[in-house]
Amino acid sequence: MSEKLKIAIQKSGRLHDNSIRLLKECGLSFDNGNDQLKIEATNFPLEIMFLRNSDIPQYVEDGVTDIAIIGQNLLVEKDKGIEEILKLGFAKCRLSIAVPKLVKYTGPSWLDGKKLATSYPNTLKKYLDRNNIKAEIHEISGSVEIAPNIGLAEGICDLVSSGSTLFRNRLKEVEVILDSEACLAARHGLNEKKNALLDKLVFRMKSVLASKNNKYVLLNAPNNKLEKIKKIIPGIKSPTIMPLAEKGWSSVHSVINENAFWEIIDQLKENGAQGILIIPIEKMIV
Ligand code: PRP
Repeated sequence: MSEKLKIAIQKSGRLHDNSIRLLKECGLSFDNGNDQLKIEATNFPLEIMFLRNSDIPQYVEDGVTDIAIIGQNLLVEKDKGIEEILKLGFAKCRLSIAVPKLVKYTGPSWLDGKKLATSYPNTLKKYLDRNNIKAEIHEISGSVEIAPNIGLAEGICDLVSSGSTLFRNRLKEVEVILDSEACLAARHGLNEKKNALLDKLVFRMKSVLASKNNKYVLLNAPNNKLEKIKKIIPGIKSPTIMPLAEKGWSSVHSVINENAFWEIIDQLKENGAQGILIIPIEKMIV
């Protein structure tokens, strides 16, 4: 039987749907039927295991699974023998310290001597040590945000995404101690075959991520502006330029990055571009 790469993804939780979507966008076919612990892709030697989020780093370290899609927050907190391979651009959040809204917070030294509730004791301890703060860490596994309201702690350290959990619990974010997003992580020392499979998967993921970050652009430009327009949208190697039927005009095709999208469009318009069309890219081989 040929060797299969094993990947762990969240059984439920905020990374689950995007993890499934990413694997499907990488061209993997599998039936993500409910309540299954383990499924196999039908067109790639990959076994997908659905595990409880906080258990995943241990399973990777123990070799039950080879790689995983997990939050960087968990990777840092558990600090196992696994390494980040690729940032995946979703589930962006931060690990922050928050205190009751009415507290007059004066800076990190306010935390001295206080009791902080968290599910991230290791990451919090490192932050406190780095900043020379002596605070008591009270580890709890869930509903951390209610701790100050029931008198269990004077502050918390928890994940913040939209901020609505803090708002609902009358807390305010005072220190960001870690920025996080979903990542692909792998155990050290995978054998040659598994490493080759991992390389293939990473290559596909990079292509999917690049296509999300870029758009195909087509426009018409007066020939006397082509040099400037080439500099604005250099594309991957260089833009494609073809003459239009109308004399003195050309059609320009290129790729633009999503992050600077509107600035680039403004510059193109200032340089006489017309009939600008923006088209999503299905896959981008980088
Ligand atoms: C996290 C965190 C907060 C919430 C913050 O929990 O513990 O409860 O998200 O998000 P917000 O700023 O958008 O309100 P999550 O839903 O990831 O599940 P968990 O409780 O299992 O960590």
